[in-house]
Amino acid sequence: MQEIAMHDTRYYVNDDPIISDSDYDNLKFRLRELERDDPDLADLFDPTAAVGGSPAKHLAKVAHARPMLSLNNAFADEDVAEFVAGVRRFLRLSDDAPVALTAEPKIDGLSCSLRYEGRRLVRALTRGDGAVGEDVTANVATIADIPQALPDTAPDVFEVRGEVYMAKADFAALNARLLAEAVDPARARQFANPRNAAAGSLRQKDAAVTASRPLGFLAHGWGEVASLPADTQAGVVAVLRDWGFPIADAFRRCDGAGEALAVYRTIEAARADLPFDIDGVVYKLDRLDWQERLGFVGRAPRWAIAHKFPAERAQTSLRAIDIQVGRTGALTPVARLEPVTVGGVVVTNATLHNADEIERLGVRPGDRVVVQRAGDVIPQIVDNLTRDEPRDAWTFPGTCPDCGSLAERGEGEVVVRCTGGLVCPAQRVERLIHFVSRHAFDIAGLGLVRVEDFFRDGLIASPADIFRLHLHRDALVRRERMSDLVVGKLIDAIDARRSIGLDRFLFALGIRHVGEVTARDLARRWTSARGFAAMIRRALHVRRTTVPSIGENERRFVLRRGRALVAAVETAGIGPEVADALLAFFAEKHNRDVVADLLREVAPQDVVHAATQSELTGKTVVFTGRLETLSRDEAKAQADALGARVAGSVSKKTDLVVVGADAGSKRAKAEELGIRVIDEAAWARIVSAATT
Ligand code: IVH
Repeated sequence: MQEIAMHDTRYYVNDDPIISDSDYDNLKFRLRELERDDPDLADLFDPTAAVGGSPAKHLAKVAHARPMLSLNNAFADEDVAEFVAGVRRFLRLSDDAPVALTAEPKIDGLSCSLRYEGRRLVRALTRGDGAVGEDVTANVATIADIPQALPDTAPDVFEVRGEVYMAKADFAALNARLLAEAVDPARARQFANPRNAAAGSLRQKDAAVTASRPLGFLAHGWGEVASLPADTQAGVVAVLRDWGFPIADAFRRCDGAGEALAVYRTIEAARADLPFDIDGVVYKLDRLDWQERLGFVGRAPRWAIAHKFPAERAQTSLRAIDIQVGRTGALTPVARLEPVTVGGVVVTNATLHNADEIERLGVRPGDRVVVQRAGDVIPQIVDNLTRDEPRDAWTFPGTCPDCGSLAERGEGEVVVRCTGGLVCPAQRVERLIHFVSRHAFDIAGLGLVRVEDFFRDGLIASPADIFRLHLHRDALVRRERMSDLVVGKLIDAIDARRSIGLDRFLFALGIRHVGEVTARDLARRWTSARGFAAMIRRALHVRRTTVPSIGENERRFVLRRGRALVAAVETAGIGPEVADALLAFFAEKHNRDVVADLLREVAPQDVVHAATQSELTGKTVVFTGRLETLSRDEAKAQADALGARVAGSVSKKTDLVVVGADAGSKRAKAEELGIRVIDEAAWARIVSAATT
């Protein structure tokens, strides 16, 4: 999930995707597979899938005092050097200034935030979506590694963050026990890997189940704190150790990237002998004042990076190539493999990306292939060992395997798409699954399996139908595994979502390029469903009038208006691609009907903007000239933190111009327009006044 969120951020926020659309779809597919494999994740969607112990159907959701973020990745030594160089640029340090780092294993567990108030453990939360976690306080109380209290010297409020994990040996023993205890060994519950086992064990409604599972904890950071007991990462970590928190043995403070890379090699060499799974090494800047200045970009800190271990590989046979149809109609080839263990995980499927990739590898069913797996990324086929053997080539189907519609590959596109649109049952059901998913409508008890079943049986065909399921109550109760109680709960869960945040509503529609982050940006920009609809209507009108037969002047006029709309969309922080995708979606009458129908059943809530946080919130700032104490990136980050927008040029819309040395025409223009001009020192005073 973090992987997908990372790609979402790169794609939607940074505008810098590192994988193709089909790879992205594949990732989602892999997540789906994980959900199928991991009963505890599946429980979130389908409570009837519960096996063994009572699962975490309704762990209370609690907002984190400070968000729990993810890390950017480095794969090569050069990436680490570039990370340090980036830090130097941001902080405007010279090339030879010492930059101390810490290095420690990246534990493959699940992160947990432990909150101590008055030095007592008062709450433990899982990461959840980073903003809101699940309350696992009672479960955590059963983990011996986690202190229940802090010493008297600790501050009044202190959140310790780290990973809950299951040791490799304990994981194997747990699976063996589950097998031995199963009534029907063929259907015994087995966890896919130690991380799933740890997650499944921690996220239990009944803490007694957690108590029966051996879990460990390693601390690596902190969240909200009343004060910090040291001014370096290594210093605070040493104090955490004194307070009784386990710290990874391999934790080291390093003088610079060279030393950090040496620690990486040591940890990598010891990997197989460590009692728990790790998937890389995390480097953090040691100085906390620098961490503070560097801050965050997107969902990851600028002051830390995860150096991942290289992918693991194995050989196996390709049994078949199947085609999957995604929500946007993308046809993705999936390799069905002879099961093989790659880095401790049994792999049966791998992505083949697209037709080009199949051609490049020259793969056909029956071939011997090399499979690679790295962390959570879906396994890939990286080599074909029997490509020269005589065998019929495999050809990409020209029609959709689900609806038989023509499958087309657009000009310059790598992806083949089904042209069936909503006629295609695969696309419709994928959209419904997306609609009810966790970050969209998040309907408890309505998961993948039920959506597929209900769709197949004609109970739901479009999102609005979900809100009319109560009309089929009798039919529902007659279904297998659906007691009156279960149906009642399902209907309540559906009713609870009749009022929903505009961001979730927009995300749930499954518009191409509109991921969670973009949906949030759109919601913030247009604040109400009505405002959003008005924008779309105007834009569609412009689009309809942009016909080639009109005269040049009119065309220019229309284009200008069109551009203004695109500009409006861009101010929401999203690119023209998103604008196009929105228009393409709403240009289809069928989609407008689906949305209108849905709006008869649910009411998206208006976004209420938080009160002004600083004198600069909502203002536009321009930096010009050479700044002495700040890099441009840091200046921009400070402005962002104050809620201001940074522009590149001075115009009537500019509110403030910050001038450094040798400021030229921008300063002159600001003075001419009567815009407030300040120097770097005055800017620093504004920043410190707002942040203290
Ligand atoms: S530091 C601001 N250190 O990796 C985020 N994270 O990919 C600081 N993780 O969500 C995280 N071992 O749960 C840090 N030694 C370590 C870690 C570690 C595992 C997890 C953590 C985080 C995820 C990011």
